[in-house]
Amino acid sequence: MLPTYTRLFAAACALATTANAVVPIEVKGKDFVNSKTGDRFQILGVDYQPGGSGGFDGKSDPLSDRKACLRDAALMQRLGVNTVRIYNLSPELNHDECMSIFNAAGIYLILDVNSPLYGGYIDRTDPESTYNPTYYEQVFGIIENFKDYPNLLGLFAGNEVINEQSVKKVPAYMRAVQRDMKDYISKNADRPIPVGYSAADIRPWLIDTVNYFMCEDEDSPSSHSDFFGLNSYSWCGRSSFTKSGYDVLTEDFAEASLPVFFSEYGCNEVQPRVFTEVEALYSDRMSNSFSGGLIYEYTQEPNDYGLIELKDNGDADLLVDFDNLMKQYSKLNWDKIEATNETATNFKAPKCGPGLIKNETFLGTFDLPKRPSKVQDMIDNGYDGVKSGKLVSVKSEDVPQTIKDHNGKELTGLRLEALPDSESNAPGQNTSGDSSSNSSDDEEGEENAAGKMSASILGLVAGAAAVAFSML
Ligand SMILES: *[C@@H]1O[C@H](CO)[C@@H](O)[C@H](O)[C@H]1NC(C)=O
Ligand SMILES: *[C@@H]1O[C@H](CO)[C@@H](O)[C@H](O)[C@H]1NC(C)=O
Ligand SMILES: *[C@@H]1O[C@H](CO)[C@@H](O)[C@H](O)[C@H]1NC(C)=O
Ligand SMILES: *[C@@H]1O[C@H](CO)[C@@H](O)[C@H](O)[C@H]1NC(C)=O
Repeated sequence: MLPTYTRLFAAACALATTANAVVPIEVKGKDFVNSKTGDRFQILGVDYQPGGSGGFDGKSDPLSDRKACLRDAALMQRLGVNTVRIYNLSPELNHDECMSIFNAAGIYLILDVNSPLYGGYIDRTDPESTYNPTYYEQVFGIIENFKDYPNLLGLFAGNEVINEQSVKKVPAYMRAVQRDMKDYISKNADRPIPVGYSAADIRPWLIDTVNYFMCEDEDSPSSHSDFFGLNSYSWCGRSSFTKSGYDVLTEDFAEASLPVFFSEYGCNEVQPRVFTEVEALYSDRMSNSFSGGLIYEYTQEPNDYGLIELKDNGDADLLVDFDNLMKQYSKLNWDKIEATNETATNFKAPKCGPGLIKNETFLGTFDLPKRPSKVQDMIDNGYDGVKSGKLVSVKSEDVPQTIKDHNGKELTGLRLEALPDSESNAPGQNTSGDSSSNSSDDEEGEENAAGKMSASILGLVAGAAAVAFSML
């Protein structure tokens, strides 16, 4: 597939560009939108936590090592992603270089505010005793540290805290955490950073869960989610829209009042993974209900979901899943997906209250725990225990590590490409290997229009480049 209009336009402008930053994303009704242009934004991304939660010690984190970020941002750029989710971070560390590298690559971040270390999370079996000021040093620390980066897309208040092991009142605590985060943000940040929850795919509770998080509560108007993430692994191998139950999910979220996306997806029961669910997720059929998703996960860990295998010296091997995913991404007609209007329908959130929650094993009341007075002080005065980060200058740069593809062949020319102002990364830039690609797995074979469009895009691009140069 040919490079997109935006990328070539970007290349044409690159010489004239000094500062660069992506445009912050905001929530409008059921959509994420670009806050400058108003265009709908769909998440195309991966989950990223090298070493897993078990490897997190607070002394380093996925955004504290410049060289590792350079390698991964360059590889993710090639893969085609525009968003990365990170689960565990330390607010005390300096993240300027990594956040700036991802920003220059045109990649947004969705960050979980929790840490697996003592005091850094709400205990699902004992929420009362873990909802305290010490916990908020972690939560407000993350907000304070990251709030000024334009590529911070959103924050997760919790990940699968509600599950079969959790006590019944946990949903109220999660809404309280959202309330406190959103009150902190509106008092202490320059823009409304979206806050949401990442839910386990427990089908009997799914509708109750989304209703619980999106409903409007008169007593606590800031406590609702701004977006809803679902961790879902129901499409395995070459499944289908109906076999996977994606049809049910699409129906379930059709009238949600907020953006919904897969905060994890990519079943590994059939290997290697072929990621045919990607085409379904971004198709017209699903895109009114979903704003894209994040593939679990970038690095290979003991649970065997990786796209790349990291070595101790920082070199890396791409696994066959990396290529398979890149192939699926590059089959998407991203120009068309980006040109999709915001979803016309603006659904109103239901009111929180009796009768909203149907399954009696799920919490049906909305009395949120009271905020401790020390937490109120932190909101009123700002938490000064950590420093706020800021972007630093980043230029295009070669990746120094040795990266091999899944056949053991060394990749050449791997480079972070610093995009100009306002650009985000897009799939389909890597053209090699496509000639041998096999589209017989396309259920409907409709998207091969991409090939036919090439010529007209080329024409557009030539025109755009001319315009760009005449503007300089
Ligand atoms: C997008 O909106 C415009 C203006 O309302 C309309 O003319 C156009 O047909 C819409 N495009 C799509 C793909 O729905
Ligand atoms: C309620 O939720 C529980 C736990 O997920 C489930 O086992 C049960 O079938 C659900 N009941 C109904 C009526 O859906
Ligand atoms: C495309 O990706 C493959 C595999 O990752 C790599 O070997 C190749 O060099 C890339 N081509 C370009 C043009 O980036
Ligand atoms: C295309 O896919 C089919 C079925 O998976 C396989 O039998 C065939 O060898 C593939 N062809 C190429 C050119 O990869």
